[in-house]
Amino acid sequence: MQIVLNSEELARARDGMAGTLALVPTMGALHAGHLALIAAAKMRAATVAASIFVNPTQFGEGEDFGRYPRRQEQDVRMLEEAGCDLVWAPSVEDIYPAGFSTNISVASVSKRWEGEARPGHFDGVSTIVAKLLLSVGPDLALFGEKDFQQLAVIRRMVTDLNIPVEIVAVPTVREADGLALSSRNAYLSPDERRRAAALPNALLTMRDAIRDGTAVSAALQAGKQALVDAGFLKIDYLALVDAATLEPLDAIVGEMRLIAAAVIGTTRLIDNIAV
Ligand code: PAF
Repeated sequence: MQIVLNSEELARARDGMAGTLALVPTMGALHAGHLALIAAAKMRAATVAASIFVNPTQFGEGEDFGRYPRRQEQDVRMLEEAGCDLVWAPSVEDIYPAGFSTNISVASVSKRWEGEARPGHFDGVSTIVAKLLLSVGPDLALFGEKDFQQLAVIRRMVTDLNIPVEIVAVPTVREADGLALSSRNAYLSPDERRRAAALPNALLTMRDAIRDGTAVSAALQAGKQALVDAGFLKIDYLALVDAATLEPLDAIVGEMRLIAAAVIGTTRLIDNIAV
C-alpha cells in the first residue's frame, strides 16, 4: 500500500494508476464501518484509495475537533489489511494553504437537521469533499449511510457541479445491540454506551409503528419519550423525512427515512433508518 502525504505525491501516484479508481474519504479513527466502505470499493474498482483528514472546517466552535480521535498508525495498518492500495493523509496546510478562500455551500438539502444544529458544518463537508474528489479524480466515491444528510448534500453538490464521479452509499454497520458504529462512540462511558442502544431501538419501533398505521406524529412522540426515558438529555431532532430532499413528512409517501440526533452524557449521536 502506498502512503502519500501531500498533493504533489498524490498527483504523481495518480499518474501511475490505470483502471477504475474508488475513493473512500475518512477522518481516520477507523472502525468496521470504514472497512465496509473499503470492501464495497474493492468489489467495484481495480484500485482503492482512502483519505485520512480530520477536516477542521466542518467542526463548529465548541465541538470536538481538538479531542477527535487521531490514530493514524493504526488506521494505516487497518487499511493495509483491508486491501486498500493508496492512503492520502494530507496536512491542514496542504489542504488549506495560506490564502485559501473558497467555500462551497449547498442550499436546500443542507438547511435543516444537522445544518440547523451545526451551522457551517455542511459548508465544511462540501468544500473538503469537493477538494478530495478533484484532487484524487476517482471514478467512484463511497460514503456511509450513517451520515444520511451528508450523503444527500454530497450527491446534490456532485450533480450541481458536474463532478464526474459516481457516489455510492454503503449501509450502516451496527454493533450487536444495534448502535451504529461511529468514531464518536469512543466518548461514551460504559453506562452511556449501554443506554445508547435506545437510539436505534427507538428508530426501529417508530418504523414498525408507522408501517403498522400509527400516525407519524404519535410515533415520533413515542420515540422521543423512549429516548428521554433512556437518559438522552437533548434531542436535536427526530423526524420522518423524504429520503432525497430531507424535507419533513407527516404522512407516508415515496422513499422515506427516519433520522435522529440526540445527546447522551456529552456525546451527540446521529442515526437513521429506511422506512
Ligand atoms: O464522514 C466523514 O468522515 C467526513 O465528513 C468526510 C466525508 C470524510 C469529510 O471530511
